[in-house]
Amino acid sequence: MKQFTSVHDVEDLESLVREALVLKQHPYAHESLGKHKTLGLIFLNPSLRTRLSTQKAAQSLGMNVMVMNMGQEGWALETQDGAIMNGTTVEHIKDAAAVMGQYCDVLGMRSFPKLQNVEEDYSEEILKKFIQYANVPFVSLESATRHPLQSLADLITITEHAPKGRRPKVVLTWAPHVKALPQAVPNSFAEWMCAADVDFVITHPEGYELDPQFTNGATITYNQQEALEGADFIYVKNWSTFQPNYGEVLTQDASWMLTNQHLTNTNNAKVMHCLPVRRNVELSDEILDGPNSLVVHEAANREFAAQAVLKRLLEGIQ
Ligand code: CP
Repeated sequence: MKQFTSVHDVEDLESLVREALVLKQHPYAHESLGKHKTLGLIFLNPSLRTRLSTQKAAQSLGMNVMVMNMGQEGWALETQDGAIMNGTTVEHIKDAAAVMGQYCDVLGMRSFPKLQNVEEDYSEEILKKFIQYANVPFVSLESATRHPLQSLADLITITEHAPKGRRPKVVLTWAPHVKALPQAVPNSFAEWMCAADVDFVITHPEGYELDPQFTNGATITYNQQEALEGADFIYVKNWSTFQPNYGEVLTQDASWMLTNQHLTNTNNAKVMHCLPVRRNVELSDEILDGPNSLVVHEAANREFAAQAVLKRLLEGIQ
């Protein structure tokens, strides 16, 4: 593997999930693989889980890890080709990425969308330029439109808890939030679920349709109650609008926030969320602190998702 930016970079999904589950049992089985190899983790935006789990995963493979909170500690980056840099930006991404590629054998970067211009965000310009100029194996730590390490951890979690002998029903439900959030997590989750061996349903209020390139193959309904019927897994996430008006909050309808009452007609559904979560806005305390919540387990699996991906990237450069 040379890069991990979406499900399309994975040749065999089942084999990657299996590998992650084996690593979970034997995290130090490949502790020499990354010896004398350096991973650079570049954050243009905040993180708890992605930063710590990826760092730990790399260390278990014997890698050295350097973390840079570029958004706070680095020079302000210019991304436009041909820019006359007489404003606030100090360093062009082509120079910064090329230099980081000299120090690191593998690089990861997190870059959120600005939610102002759909074409700009969905072109993934920053991600693509960084990969191009760094010119080393690359892992996305969440980009404008996708969060593949999260989605892999989600699939690992579903695989561990899936009912035996049948395809699980997985429901992605929109949840309320106080501010406009990116579509990266739901886009990515949808894309991975459409590629996985599950029955997949998406439910959201009218106006919150995701980009169809990520949802092809899913059943989509505005009726949350109907969607949740018989669910084995419910993935809760807020997102802002994709089209026609990009990055907006149309409603904060609290009836979309999951409570125990919402689980009544499910198959005793397990509830997932990528975290961080706004308690009692996106998800109720009773769900998060109750027996159906998988959120901490899911966050724990971020480590083994990252380890499986880093192992594949390292194998590609041995
Ligand atoms: N789920 C997730 O990516 O968490 P962080 O933003 O804390 O990394």
